[in-house]
Amino acid sequence: MLTIKKLRVTHRTRNGTVHAVDGVDLTLRRGETLGLVGESGCGKSTLARAVMRLTAPASGRILLDGTDVTRLTGRAAALFTARVQMVFQDPAASLDPRYTVARAIAEPLLPTVRDAAERARRVVALMDDVGLARALADRFPHQLSGGQRQRVAIARAIAPRPDFVVLDEPVSALDVSLQAQVLNLLVDLQERHGLAYLFIGHDIGVVRHMADRVAVMYLGRVVEIGDWSDVVDGPAHPYTRALMAAAPAAHPDAGRAATRTVLAGELPSPFAPPPGCAFHTRCPLAVERCRREAPALRDAADGRRVACHLAPAQSAEPNPTEANTLRPLRRLP
Ligand SMILES: Nc1ncnc2c1ncn2[C@@H]1O[C@H](COP(=O)(O)OP(=O)(O)OP(=O)(O)O)[C@@H](O)[C@H]1O
Ligand code: SF4
Ligand SMILES: [Mg+2]
Repeated sequence: MLTIKKLRVTHRTRNGTVHAVDGVDLTLRRGETLGLVGESGCGKSTLARAVMRLTAPASGRILLDGTDVTRLTGRAAALFTARVQMVFQDPAASLDPRYTVARAIAEPLLPTVRDAAERARRVVALMDDVGLARALADRFPHQLSGGQRQRVAIARAIAPRPDFVVLDEPVSALDVSLQAQVLNLLVDLQERHGLAYLFIGHDIGVVRHMADRVAVMYLGRVVEIGDWSDVVDGPAHPYTRALMAAAPAAHPDAGRAATRTVLAGELPSPFAPPPGCAFHTRCPLAVERCRREAPALRDAADGRRVACHLAPAQSAEPNPTEANTLRPLRRLP
């Protein structure tokens, strides 16, 4: 459904130019959840904003059902906005403090639902859909809990009946006790409305419960992408291995001393990323070639793609069952 090709996004700052997204290729299938993980500053939000057309890419293409969305204007742009929606990390910042719950949820319906009575009906249905008590309709954001505010943001996102929702750390600002409730709501909505999600998170444990597939980013590039279970149980890229080891709660086996790889050294400056493989300054396996030559993202074993000179290439026997099957969604306890 969504294909991202060789996407580059740069930010110009006083200190120079940041290549926040530096040649990313990704695909998202209808109804699936693609998790996107990586350290702070690796370009996850910039990628999301480019997909949402909130940031113009320097180059590359973003195709929605074959149409390049970076070039849309007028009515086509408005239609795109309805199909692709986003939920941000901090609902307090993404909601207008002067709008009541009902008005905030009605707003995205204004262009398409002209009849006021019909709009009011849709608002009530959306509040039911996201588990907001109807009595909250006249409250303002500051009168709501964090979880309720995020439910309003989710209702606004699904109001135009999108196919695809970008979730940029949607529960990171919430108390741990509320996170599971909101994640379960997102899973329910996905089932009921057939939504595809791009789920951004730095908490591996949270992303693991949500995603069918996962893409790992490092300094603006995707270094590994594959089925969630393959990537977590047998990370192929040294950076993914380090990332999993740094999250022992999400993956208890990774904490064992024998397999543990510590993410050593500082994250390099994004203004001057290392030449060759950008991870070579921290990679325990780096060889001379890594300093000179950037590894391409190529097909590796079991249908995943890895950008590392040392990753074993795809075996002669491709596994035909894995390519097009979606794993059933998981609910948190
Ligand atoms: N508006 C901006 N102007 C200048 N630089 C920016 C801007 N937005 C992001 N950057 C820089 O681009 C790089 C990628 O940032 P981005 O916010 O996309 O990362 P992220 O992976 O979402 O991080 P986090 O996990 O902290 O949300 C960083 O080096 C950041 O400092
Ligand atoms: S290409 Fe080299 S430096 Fe980069 S991850 Fe692979 S082994 Fe490490
Ligand atoms: Mg971010």
